[in-house]
Amino acid sequence: MPNAIVLGSQWGDEGKGKVVDRLAHGMNVVVRFQGGANAGHTVVVQDKKYVLHLLPSGILNADTVSVIGNGCVVDPRKLAQEIDYVRGHGFSVSPENLVVSHAAHMVTPFHRHADTLTGGKVGTTGRGIGPTYEDKARRTGLRLESLRDGSWREGFRQLHELWRVICPAPPDSPYPDPEKLIAEMEPLLESLAPFVTDTQEALATQVRANRSVLFEGAQGTLLDIDHGTYPFVTSSSTTIGGALTGTGVYLQFDHRIAVVKAYTTRVGNGPFPTELDDEVGRELRRRGDEFGATTGRPRRCGWLDLPLLRKSFIANGFNRIALTKLDCLSGFDPIRVAVEYDESGRPVYQDLAGWESDIRPATSRGDLPRECQDYIEFIETSLGAKAFLISTGPARHQTIEEPLT
Ligand code: IMP
Repeated sequence: MPNAIVLGSQWGDEGKGKVVDRLAHGMNVVVRFQGGANAGHTVVVQDKKYVLHLLPSGILNADTVSVIGNGCVVDPRKLAQEIDYVRGHGFSVSPENLVVSHAAHMVTPFHRHADTLTGGKVGTTGRGIGPTYEDKARRTGLRLESLRDGSWREGFRQLHELWRVICPAPPDSPYPDPEKLIAEMEPLLESLAPFVTDTQEALATQVRANRSVLFEGAQGTLLDIDHGTYPFVTSSSTTIGGALTGTGVYLQFDHRIAVVKAYTTRVGNGPFPTELDDEVGRELRRRGDEFGATTGRPRRCGWLDLPLLRKSFIANGFNRIALTKLDCLSGFDPIRVAVEYDESGRPVYQDLAGWESDIRPATSRGDLPRECQDYIEFIETSLGAKAFLISTGPARHQTIEEPLT
């Protein structure tokens, strides 16, 4: 059975949820391998919209096994909330269909607090992601295996001591009291313990049985800790390498899918060469409803940036494109695309003809205006990969899909 990986090729928010949603149905296993509840994936099942932050999208398919790999950081409160949320909508969640790595690190209230104190420069989501990965790299972190032997209690006390020293909090906003937290979180952490297991083994068993596996990336390539616009990045490996270290399982991906938004957006701070700080940018934000799924922050908007996308294709070896939010470009003329940078690092644009009509009703490429088809072909030729999925509107059916062969 073919394996697939779906990754954001820009700064996140490319619309991965819709792509994963379409692919997940044919898959036996869906895997998250990095990041935590900083992500926000919108998935539609039977015309109902679900926003997931931490659980793999496979959780909404009864027969799929969902894996949260060792590369992820897990906030137990968020995980428990999300399990309740999907159960509340009639989906079953049990250790039979959800496994969480014993080697994944725990996001605690101390990490969340430290993130709100220090995350301003980067413009983080405030979910405690960076501080938790800091502890992982410093080898002072708390892994989920501590839920199985109860050592998380002592872990909480130690983390409290550590963070008070390395990141002092103002007197009016101190770190929470560890003993109070331990008492509060005890039942919740006990309820999660049965999900915690050796996911490397669990996933390897599925792979050996030739079951089809979908890896679901979070954030985007340009937010990768190594390959992104450092230091304005997230703290994990969002690129394809992260899929292997974040699960401990080697496998070949038949389909390496780049989710490419038809223009560019970014939340948080950091460079954005094609950013439009004008009426066109504001119109893109309005049309694309470009507000963060996790924090509600307005996203910065700009034209498509091919030089950055080429780097993203090098990092991930993408062989297919899922092109999203194409409908948001209807009515713009010309549509500008950065094709290279000049010596001073400024983008050099090529202008492409726009189109007027609403493309949402299109069901095949042939239904699209000629200029729109040209825009797609220009992207495909520039990146050397074919678009198998073109999203022409937010609804599930507003999608032109060709077989993924
Ligand atoms: P953190 O991941 O919360 O540490 O934030 C680091 C940077 O990544 C900030 O610029 C965030 O806005 C950005 N970021 C984190 N998660 C996402 C996401 O899911 N979509 C887009 N940007 C994200």
